[in-house]
Amino acid sequence: MTIGKIIDGKAFAAGLRDKVADGVAAFVEQTGRKPGLAVVLVGEDPASSVYVRNKGKMTVAAGMESLEFKRPDSIGEDDLLDLIEELNHDDRVDGILVQLPLPRHIDEAAVIAAIDPAKDVDGFHVVNTGRLATGQEALVPCTPLGCIMLLKDELGDLSGMEAVVVGRSNIVGKPMAALLLAENCTVTIAHSRTRDIASIVHRADIVVAAVGRAEMVKGEWIKPGATVIDVGINRVVDTEDGKGRIVGDVATAEALSHVRAITPVPGGVGPMTIAVLLRNTLVAAHARAG
Ligand code: GUN
Repeated sequence: MTIGKIIDGKAFAAGLRDKVADGVAAFVEQTGRKPGLAVVLVGEDPASSVYVRNKGKMTVAAGMESLEFKRPDSIGEDDLLDLIEELNHDDRVDGILVQLPLPRHIDEAAVIAAIDPAKDVDGFHVVNTGRLATGQEALVPCTPLGCIMLLKDELGDLSGMEAVVVGRSNIVGKPMAALLLAENCTVTIAHSRTRDIASIVHRADIVVAAVGRAEMVKGEWIKPGATVIDVGINRVVDTEDGKGRIVGDVATAEALSHVRAITPVPGGVGPMTIAVLLRNTLVAAHARAG
């Protein structure tokens, strides 16, 4: 039995961060200022707090300015919109990221719509999603762009390949499908209402799993020789020792004997998200500097 390759997303992300840091140094030389990333965190969700702390550290490590705006859960939507308006006009700020999810009393779509599309380093604004969908230059969501980078590094030209994206979220599934289409893949999106998902996944040369359900994609669903990108980060508790661990959306151990290559969880897609965010911030800074 052959075993597939484990894609080292951690190493790839470190390489990308190094390239961004070189680009930042050149930007500072050219313009006399650092690119700036503003991160807005509402509330105290522990997972979000950890992400935001890591983002801040890596932003500084890349030579950029990190600005953090922490607001209580009780903040009103109008006050949050005012903060975004301020950041839109703040010359130090090239990228604005509002950490999601937001508290339920705040309309997420309204908040995203308030961000200047030129500073929308998450690529969530409809101007950027529309540009991506129509093949125009856009700021592209970080996680799916990171997945494409890993796929191209592994497979080279993706043209003509069958790609199945499992999951249809605005953050990952939909932009992932748009990016794969732009790479000339034949793209299918499978989701919770899809009939016979196993046979659809089995057609794919490329499987991207982004549903947020622990080990939902089974090994036997995978066509021999397919490449699998696992976006899931799910905490599960082991019945044997009662300890928590993190698993992806793919049953990795089963899938390993089917795949050409697969991203592990953790250490696959996860580290790519922040690395691409830094890249997007540098891209936005250059666009603003003209
Ligand atoms: N929450 C989980 N992932 C993301 C992301 O990529 N961007 C933002 N803003 N919030 C998130």
